[in-house]
Order: sequence, then C-alpha cells, then structure tokens
Amino acid sequence: MLDIKIDLAKTKKAKPDEKNLSFGKYYTDNMFIMDYTEGVGWHDPRIVPYQPISLDPAAMVFHYAQESFEGMKAYRTADGSVQLFRPDKNAERMQSTHRRICIPEVPVEDFVQAVKALVSAEKEWVPSEPETSLYIRPYTIATEAHLGVKPSSTYMFIIIASPVGAYYEEGMNPVKIFVEDEYVRATSGGTGSIKCGGNYAASLISQVKAHDLGYSQVLWLDGVERKYVEEVGSMNIFFKISGVFYTAPTSGTVLPGITRMSCIELLKKWGYEVREEHITIDDIMKAAGEGKLEEVFGTGTAAVISPVGELRHKSDIAHINHNKIGEVTQKLYDTLTGIQWGKIEDDMNWTVKVD
Ligand code: COI
Repeated sequence: MLDIKIDLAKTKKAKPDEKNLSFGKYYTDNMFIMDYTEGVGWHDPRIVPYQPISLDPAAMVFHYAQESFEGMKAYRTADGSVQLFRPDKNAERMQSTHRRICIPEVPVEDFVQAVKALVSAEKEWVPSEPETSLYIRPYTIATEAHLGVKPSSTYMFIIIASPVGAYYEEGMNPVKIFVEDEYVRATSGGTGSIKCGGNYAASLISQVKAHDLGYSQVLWLDGVERKYVEEVGSMNIFFKISGVFYTAPTSGTVLPGITRMSCIELLKKWGYEVREEHITIDDIMKAAGEGKLEEVFGTGTAAVISPVGELRHKSDIAHINHNKIGEVTQKLYDTLTGIQWGKIEDDMNWTVKVD
C-alpha cells in the first residue's frame, strides 16, 4: 500500500467545453509522480500540481527511449459516480512492458491505487457529456544522466489525465484504413507486444503517408513476409468473414489490447466463433471481393470500437458493409460502452468504482 502525499494545485484551471474536447488536448490540475532509485525501490509517491518536469539533458529516456506507457479511462455514470475499466489489466501489461525493457516493475496494487488516487482527486474533471471520459496516461521514464547504453538506475512513474471525446474525427463513423506494405511495425523477438513509445515513433512515417493519401490509420502486416495482418496504429483489428471473427494472435508482435480481450470475451459469450490466428491480407481482400467480409472494426482504449469502412492494399480497395456500421460492431460498442458508462449491468465484473 502506497503512502501517497497529496499537495493539490491551489488554483484550478477553467474546464474546457465538454462538447468539444477532441482527444488529448486538455490536462487536469494535478498529476501523480513516484520515483525509483536503485537500492531503494519505488519511493515518494505524491500527487502534485500538473507542471513541467525537470530532467538532466543526459537523462537516458532522451537517448535510448527507455520508456513505457499505458492508456486507460475513467467514466462518469448516470448517478454521478466515477468508474475505471479493468485497471488491473493495464497494470499487468505495464509490468510486461517493464520486464522487456529492463525497468523495475510497479506492483499491480500500487499502480491501481495510484490511478484511483489521482482520479479521485480529479473527479470533477471526469466529463459527463455522452461519449466523453477522462483519459488516463500512466508512463515511466528513465531519468539517470548517462550516455552509455544500459538500464537506467533511476526512473519516474507519472500519471497524467485528460478529459477526452472521440479519438478519431469520424467518431463512431467508419474509418478508412491504409494497408502498409513498405515499413513494418514489429518482428518476433522485438517490442511489438509491449507498450513503449519507440513503437509509435517508428510508426509515424506510415501514418503520415496514410494521411496524405486520405486514410485515417495504417494496418500493419507481419514484419517477415508482409502478408499477415497484425494491428492498426492505435488499435487491434477484427474481421468478420462468413460469420466467424478473426483477429491476430498477440504472441510476440501484436499488442494485447484490453478492449481486444474484452471483445473476444463478449463475442464468445454471445456464441460467436473467434479465431485468434494469422490471416493474410490477400485472403481478406479476396473475402471482400466475394462478399464474405461482413464487418471490420478496430478496438482500443482511446478508439473504443471503430468500424472500418474501407481498406486499401496496394491498388486494391475493399469497401466494407457499404460503409455502414456492422450489426455486431454496433452491439459490441453498445455493450462495452454501456458497461463503462454504467448504463447496463456489469455482469462481467469489469468496472471498479473510484471513491
Ligand atoms: C490507447 O488506446 O489508449 C492507446 O494508448 C493508443 C494510443 C492513443 C497511442
């Protein structure tokens, strides 16, 4: 159990218009910080006013990108209370990221306690307009000033929070996805299945290319044969072909998304067959041509459930479900967000109240 010191901001910022939040533009009044020192462990957990952090220019995070992050949300329910969605899963995923890039783990219970403490202090920042939430960004950075390549001996674990609306401009309307066959995101043995900033830096060139061509996001293919579909820039992806759902397995190169995991659990509960297996882009485009590609959607904390209306692979274009939201896509969105915003009963036991 952390002994969190609380020293809140004396002046409060003006709250933004909840109807125009967009994503990641505004930050709350306070933040959580905890330090790590080799030989001491994690120490000095505190909530302090949101402020710039001061680091030595030689801090290792700037040079070797020893950094991990998570994305999660707090939701305002109709009765005014605030709840989190499966926060222990984010804590566990962050531990797996830390193990891979040699950062000491933050205990699951400490991670969850810290998130709850910050959200509790920032409760009035959790918006209540439909489709809005408080996005929470826990992250860890290597702070030792050192230019040799080795794990840092000091770190900071920080949590900031941002009231948000939809991640995509399109909201819940179908997005257009560009299938990248030039650059790759991950290969087996690399960092594809963890959440570190470097993965996203390496993805930017393709995102810019896709945007220039009029597409919202990139669909990555496997790093060896550039044949099998893996994930989209900020979400996992599912394909419904002849009634069966396919999504890439998370072994090694694909991020184990918490929304992905929750969708698989819901789909199986509803009696659908879900196959976590490698499927080629050629098979997907072929299924589209034969009218068997019934629905495509992305899943992610930021994106929630995002229907895909168009896929472009080289010069081939697949239009999905006449650019309309698929029936199961809509049901997943309604169920998941219904649980998150407390509109339907949480019979999966996924939500955690914040006092
Ligand atoms: C999330 O869905 O929370 C993410 O971290 C994706 C992203 C905005 C990079």
